[in-house]
Amino acid sequence: MHKRIIPVSSGKGGVGKTTFAVNLALSLAQYGRTVLIDLDTGTSSVRSVINTPVANDLYHFFRKETPLTQCITPLSPALDPRGEYKQFGFIAAPLHLVDEIANMNQRARDRLIDAINQLDAAYVVLDLKAGIDPAVLDFLPTTNSGVLVFTPSHPAATLAASNIVKTLIFRRLRSLFYPGSPLFQQFPQGKLDYAQVKNLIDETEDSYSDHIENLDAFYRRVHQEFPGHPVSLLLQSMIDNFDVFYVLNRFDGLENSYTQVIEPFVAQLTQMLSPRLRIQNLGWIIESESYHQANSSRIPYLLSPEPEPKATPEHKEDFQDELNELYILSGLKEKRTQKEATPQPKKKKVAVNTQDALLAQLQSIERLFADVQPSNVRQNFDYIVSRIRYQLQSGMISNLGDRKIYRRGDMVPLFPTLGD
Ligand SMILES: Nc1ncnc2c1ncn2[C@@H]1O[C@H](COP(=O)(O)OP(=O)(O)OP(=O)(O)O)[C@@H](O)[C@H]1O
Ligand SMILES: [Mg+2]
Repeated sequence: MHKRIIPVSSGKGGVGKTTFAVNLALSLAQYGRTVLIDLDTGTSSVRSVINTPVANDLYHFFRKETPLTQCITPLSPALDPRGEYKQFGFIAAPLHLVDEIANMNQRARDRLIDAINQLDAAYVVLDLKAGIDPAVLDFLPTTNSGVLVFTPSHPAATLAASNIVKTLIFRRLRSLFYPGSPLFQQFPQGKLDYAQVKNLIDETEDSYSDHIENLDAFYRRVHQEFPGHPVSLLLQSMIDNFDVFYVLNRFDGLENSYTQVIEPFVAQLTQMLSPRLRIQNLGWIIESESYHQANSSRIPYLLSPEPEPKATPEHKEDFQDELNELYILSGLKEKRTQKEATPQPKKKKVAVNTQDALLAQLQSIERLFADVQPSNVRQNFDYIVSRIRYQLQSGMISNLGDRKIYRRGDMVPLFPTLGD
C-alpha cells in the first residue's frame, strides 16, 4: 500500500495543530498503520500531550544514528488498555532544545525526509511548527496544501495560511522552470524562453508589484507570450488541480466562522492566486472544554475513557436560518436560487470567481450539516476522517498529502499518479 503523508500546518501558532494532529493520527490508526511525527522540534509538544514513556526520539535519530523506525513510540497499555490503537505510533521531538535539531539545516532535513519516506505505514501525520520557513515548507506536499488549521479567534493565522498556499504554489512553479528542468526535454528548446517565464513568475509572486496581479494574469501572460505552447495548458491544469484543505477549529457558530475565517481566506486566495483553486472544508471541531482538558491530563481526547456528554445539538432550523442569512449577507442568495432552479450536471464544480468560491464554501457547510450536526468532538473527527479517507481513495491526480516528501531539487512529477 502506498503511504500517505499528511502534514498539519497553520500560518501562526496556538490554533490547535498539535491537538488536531494527535487525534487525527489516532483516528486514522483505525484504518491502517499510522505514525505521527512531531516536527515542531523546538518544543516537543506531542510527547507532552501523550502520557507514554518515550525510549527513543528525534534526538536519537540525529545524534545517536538510531534508525527512525526504532524511534517510534507505541501507546502505553494504560492509555490503550484494549489494544485498539496498536496501529498507532508517534515519533517525539527531543526532550530539550537541541539547536541543530530545532533549526535543522538542509542536510538534516534531507536525512529525515529520506527516513520518513522509508517508513512502513499507511498514514504519516506531521505536526508542523507554526509559520512559513524551510522547517515547514520542506515537509509540505506539492499538489495540495496538506491540512491547514484555522480558528475564528485568530484571524491573522488565516491570512498567514493563505501565504503558505501562495508559497507552495510558487515553489511548485519554480520547481518546473529552472535551467535544466525536465520541461527542457519535453518541449523543444528555443520555443520557450525559461528566463522569460522565470521573470513572469517573479513578478507575479511579488506582492509589492501589481504588474501581474495573480496566477490567472500570469497564465494569460504566458499564453500571450507563448501562444498555443503546451506549457501554458500545463500551467493552467496545475492551478486547476491544486487543492487547498482546511479544518475549522474551535467552531463557535456559523456566522463567526464565516466572517472571521472562511470569507477572508477565500477572498485572499482567489484575489492573490486564483479563483480556480479548489478550496475544501474538511469539517470543523467545536470549542470543547474536554478536548482542551485532554491536553493537560495527557490523555488524548479520543483515548479518554469518559465519552463526552452530548452537547445539545443546534436545531437544524436555526442552523438553516443562519445559513440563509449568510447567503443573503454575502450577496449569494440570488445565485443560489438560480442554481437550484437549474440542476447542474454531475461534474466537479470549478469556482469561476470569488463569489462562486464563497458559494461553494457555504454549500459545503450545508452538506456537512446535513451529514452530521456539529455536536461533539468525536463526531467531528469521524466526519473529518471520512472526508480525508474519501479524498485519499478518490484517486484523483491531486488530493490530500503526497505519497512521499520531495527533497529540494528532486524532480517532482508534473502530475503525481497513484504509482508515484
Ligand atoms: N477545539 C478546541 N476547544 C478548546 N480548546 C482548544 C481547542 N483546540 C485547541 N485548544 C487549546 O488551544 C491550545 C493550543 O492548542 P495546540 O497546542 O494544539 O495548538 P498549536 O497550533 O499546536 O500551537 P503551537 O503553534 O504552539 O504548536 C491548547 O491549550 C489546546 O488545548
Ligand atoms: Mg503545536
